[in-house]
Amino acid sequence: MKIAIGCDHAGLELKEQVKKHLQEMGCTVTDMGTYDSKSCHYPIYAQKVAMEVVSGRAGLGILVCGTGVGMSIAANKVKGIRAAVVSDCFTARAVRMHNDANVLCLGARVLGSGLACLIAQLFVETEFEGGRHQTRLDMIRDIEEGK
Ligand code: RB5
Repeated sequence: MKIAIGCDHAGLELKEQVKKHLQEMGCTVTDMGTYDSKSCHYPIYAQKVAMEVVSGRAGLGILVCGTGVGMSIAANKVKGIRAAVVSDCFTARAVRMHNDANVLCLGARVLGSGLACLIAQLFVETEFEGGRHQTRLDMIRDIEEGK
């Protein structure tokens, strides 16, 4: 599995921990930055990761900021992105099974690294169920396309 990962200054340390965990799982991780703790603007990194996903260069994306919320708002502006802020293990699996979420957003000021790594692992390991859930995603795509 190819994963694109990104963060802002608030998410830097957690991004490194999640990246290491994913690499230990055998994932290929492309780090889109930021790479230092200098204050920066999260939409830049949300867009970079989102573009990796919609282009197909990455199968899934992971974004880390203070709460995960800014990253999710920004990533969801990119057509084809379904970004979800997740803080628990149940939701980590559900957003893949039911929503086919393709970007996971984590809050570094909300989660400890152990839980964040487990959430990322479950997100990556879980498959979309399709069926009735695909019908609902088609409806979301229609909203996106102004239909
Ligand atoms: C940065 O201070 C913070 O606003 C950002 O990381 C994020 O939490 C925004 O949603």
